[in-house]
Amino acid sequence: MPNASHLTEARAWRASLLWFADPAQPKVSHESDGLLVTAREADGIVRIQAIGAYRELAPLYPDLPTTHWPGLCIAPGFVDLHIHYPQTDVIGSPADGLLPWLEHYTFPHEKQFADPAYAHEVTGFFLDELMRQGVTTALCFATAHPESVDVFMAEAQKRQLRMVTGKVLQDRHSPDGLRDTDTQLSLRQTEDLIRRWHGVDRLGYAITPRFAPTSTEAQLHGAGEIAQRFPDVWIQSHVAENVDEIRWVSELFPTARSYLDVYDRAGLLRQRSVYAHCIHLDETDRQRMAEVGATAAVSPTSNLFLGSGFFDYAASDAAGLRYGLASDVGGGTSFSPFHTMHAAYTVARQSLNTAQGQRPGMSLAPEHLWWQHTAGAAAALDLAGQVGNLLPGCEADFVALNPKATPLLARRTAQTATMAEWLFAMIVLGDDRLVAHTVVQGDLVRMER
Ligand code: GUN
Ligand code: ZN
Repeated sequence: MPNASHLTEARAWRASLLWFADPAQPKVSHESDGLLVTAREADGIVRIQAIGAYRELAPLYPDLPTTHWPGLCIAPGFVDLHIHYPQTDVIGSPADGLLPWLEHYTFPHEKQFADPAYAHEVTGFFLDELMRQGVTTALCFATAHPESVDVFMAEAQKRQLRMVTGKVLQDRHSPDGLRDTDTQLSLRQTEDLIRRWHGVDRLGYAITPRFAPTSTEAQLHGAGEIAQRFPDVWIQSHVAENVDEIRWVSELFPTARSYLDVYDRAGLLRQRSVYAHCIHLDETDRQRMAEVGATAAVSPTSNLFLGSGFFDYAASDAAGLRYGLASDVGGGTSFSPFHTMHAAYTVARQSLNTAQGQRPGMSLAPEHLWWQHTAGAAAALDLAGQVGNLLPGCEADFVALNPKATPLLARRTAQTATMAEWLFAMIVLGDDRLVAHTVVQGDLVRMER
């Protein structure tokens, strides 16, 4: 094996392969009989060593234990840019829009995460479900309880996952049991958690103000100061999701130019900041996000379910705004990346109906949709070259898809003439049944069916 002295647990995986040869471009590379070589490197992380045609690579790696999956397609593990693990049991709770949904279902439910035993049970289910659906990295909300972060980090670490989460900051307009009653304490807890977890194994911390209405100016500015002291932690929040929410923000922060500007003034807008929804932004907001390198987490199943509106792909592209896909469970209705990609396609087709107006509906290419949920999402998280792709140097987190998983998938994928049509058939018809195997750090995950 070439230059293999510092490697252990070297092995190979033979199947068809799908990856992004140029991670910055939404253009899929495909090898119908491919070989992927993985090994643990000196820092303990299992990475991809080689990818290519079986006939070319097999002679270079003659004695490796090889898993052969004829008929399956190995693809990068999906990256979910915004999800709430404590809302696993909130999915499908109907309400008249965001604010009633938060008040009647989400806030009361999240109070339960004060109990670490409860948080532990939900975390285990959540992480196993993510992997069962083919998602191997997520930027995830915990709750306001610091223990909800400890439990999540420990379980993700046990599963060797690359995950990012943070304690939710919310010191007003929130019920007892979920509200930070001491703002300074909430900020100290955030710092303690950063020191305990950020950069440990594959774990990362995100400073997590819930959204502007539930934080005082003091809490937002305190969060911004922490962000300045820890430039490589992430920041995550929600912005411009719902018209009632936006009206409320303009009443609470009358001097801010816009909802986004509330975060900007607090020092919470920068590279490695990820804002969910970004529906009702204006051009100045989009350009400002692009200028600082902030990211939009597009959450189409959530926005359709809560009736929040449509992400404007054309305006975002025009501004050069970075974005990627997210489930936003439990406002979102599915853990499945296929459902999310399908919903994103549907939303882009509706752009004719947005408030911005007269643009024709867009048909997002399937390769672009796939990229938004893998290599593109990784780039938006500043994790390009680490997750979301299968290039040498990437961490060995991937899925094996079975395009014949259901009678209809088998029939439809057999009739596609191009790569784009084949990907599209999987996006539109796919769900967890398509994910035959998930591999995290070179280990085959045992999944319940
Ligand atoms: N805004 C503030 N909190 C939330 C949440 O939990 N979900 C969604 N979708 N929007 C929010
Ligand atoms: Zn959310």
